[in-house]
Amino acid sequence: MCGIVGILGKSAVAEKVVESLRRLEYRGYDSAGVATLEHGRLEVCRAEGKLKNLEHKLDKHPMGGHSGIGHTRWATHGKPSERNAHPHATKRVAVVHNGIIENFRELKTELEAEGVVFRSDTDTEVVAQLVDRQMLAGKSPVAAVAEVLPRLKGAFALAFLFDREADLMIAARRGSPLAIGYGDGEMFLGSDAIALGPFTDRISYLEEGDWAVLTREGVEVRDESGRIVERPIQKVPAGALLVDKGNHRHFMAKEIYEQPEVIAHTFSHYLDLSAETVALPDLPFDLAEIQHISITACGTALYAGAVAEYWLERFARVPVSTDIASEFRYRETPLTPGGLTIVISQSGETADTLASLRYAKECGQKVLAVVNVPTSTIAREADAVLPILAGPEIGVASTKAFTCQLATLACLSVAIGRAKGLLSQEDEHRLVRAFMEVPRLMTEALKLSPEIEVLSRTLAKARDVLYLGRGTNFPLALEGALKLKEISYIHAEGYAGGELKHGPIALIDETMPVVVIAPHDRIFDKTVSNMEEVAARGGKIILVTDPKGAAQAHVDAVQKLILPEMPATVCPMVYSIPVQLIAYHTAVIMGTDVDQPRNLAKSVTVE
Ligand code: F6R
Repeated sequence: MCGIVGILGKSAVAEKVVESLRRLEYRGYDSAGVATLEHGRLEVCRAEGKLKNLEHKLDKHPMGGHSGIGHTRWATHGKPSERNAHPHATKRVAVVHNGIIENFRELKTELEAEGVVFRSDTDTEVVAQLVDRQMLAGKSPVAAVAEVLPRLKGAFALAFLFDREADLMIAARRGSPLAIGYGDGEMFLGSDAIALGPFTDRISYLEEGDWAVLTREGVEVRDESGRIVERPIQKVPAGALLVDKGNHRHFMAKEIYEQPEVIAHTFSHYLDLSAETVALPDLPFDLAEIQHISITACGTALYAGAVAEYWLERFARVPVSTDIASEFRYRETPLTPGGLTIVISQSGETADTLASLRYAKECGQKVLAVVNVPTSTIAREADAVLPILAGPEIGVASTKAFTCQLATLACLSVAIGRAKGLLSQEDEHRLVRAFMEVPRLMTEALKLSPEIEVLSRTLAKARDVLYLGRGTNFPLALEGALKLKEISYIHAEGYAGGELKHGPIALIDETMPVVVIAPHDRIFDKTVSNMEEVAARGGKIILVTDPKGAAQAHVDAVQKLILPEMPATVCPMVYSIPVQLIAYHTAVIMGTDVDQPRNLAKSVTVE
């Protein structure tokens, strides 16, 4: 994830900006930069690679100025290079940015037609150029930003610094978090509170859709509708925190809410957004040669694999078997040459998954690890690694790792399909465009939280809960049930919709809530039949669907959670949000230890 820092200070800020960026290094980056106002004029210094390269440059050419913004960039659009590093500056404005501007291609085409010449391959520069155009036409910096923000589609965070405006900085949050720090005659901005630790312990957090105008006197925050709003200042221990909860009660909530940001990062890593293609790193085997795939993992990671089975079979037409690692390792599954084994693990240390990896290698399989911890044993022992780049996951219940596993596996499925000549270029472009929309769709899905909190009050009274889904929503039903039981201790089961009448229907009565995960897809009608079966027996249905599905589900006793319409392939990622929020709110109501549920460990290194 990229890191953003801003300071309106009382003395030279360049060094402080770098110090603050250093605290964001844990997010990962491959270039960095600073912009300050020296004698009122915008100056920019950027360097490829680590912060020490930027520091060397700053040693040689020190930057003055009491106002500055800084950035650590993990390459998204355009390769890691000085030219693509942030800040991106025009004559009038410098911008740093985290996230994806979905409609940057349209905006770029429009600006190019007006004669604007771009100096980088990034989506960010579009924002700088748009604001510059507005200012050139006579608008004030605040009016220019107000004009541009509604034109940007996607999930992102932005910070702006303006030429000849030494007492002004503007920040905007849409999907990616931003914290504001209050000093004594100084103001600060950071991607999180950790970045601001050396300067202040008084922090407020921008909420979704907010944008803020900072001066040394304070900050004026406006919400999405332009209304001036107050965001409470909290006292955060300024100590050297490594990870913090932001303004959330639990790490799990923070990790649910940061998914638009982290998944944008994962997709950016595996996609070439300009070319609208999947761009995996070089792998030590030929994707076109893969004859069959075995996926093995535990718990949530296994369910990510089970979703990927559908994608791999659809896009790459390869036979796939998905297996619980503790079974796979002992079953002595015959694995014939030409096969690929994909092991999926957040921690990269799960004993059964590691043993499965070793078994697959003994059988002559190529092993690909999809992990969050790139230095883990599983990553080291695999033939190749695709890191999911979710950042540290602290809550024991896995959330952002799951969706980033899905994002990585979705890209892999498309890459194999393309390598085998089964996906046309147009199919690939269409899928990549759909992937680019996921961060924004997740931001929309998070808005269901208050509604989910209310319905969780009913769920918290249940003894058992059933989750149903078909297609890729079946593994998501399994994941929903796992999430609920592990953190709320309510018994829950996930089933494929079609299996209902083969047994679980016997459980249904008026005390049994049934969560049905059913976007309006080609098998929606079948799911409606399942809902009718449940309703006829008095079961209470919670339907997670889209507007079309909601309109067509004429079944009694249905509560509906309605998500935007979206392409079927991205549904499991976006629908994960309500599924996770249902478990989270129910657990909070039950008063359990959400981040460290009883009997569970984050990393299971024993059998
Ligand atoms: C559930 C959960 C576990 C893990 C499982 C595998 O929320 O977190 O089911 O998914 O223990 O762990 P990793 O992914 O570290 O191999």
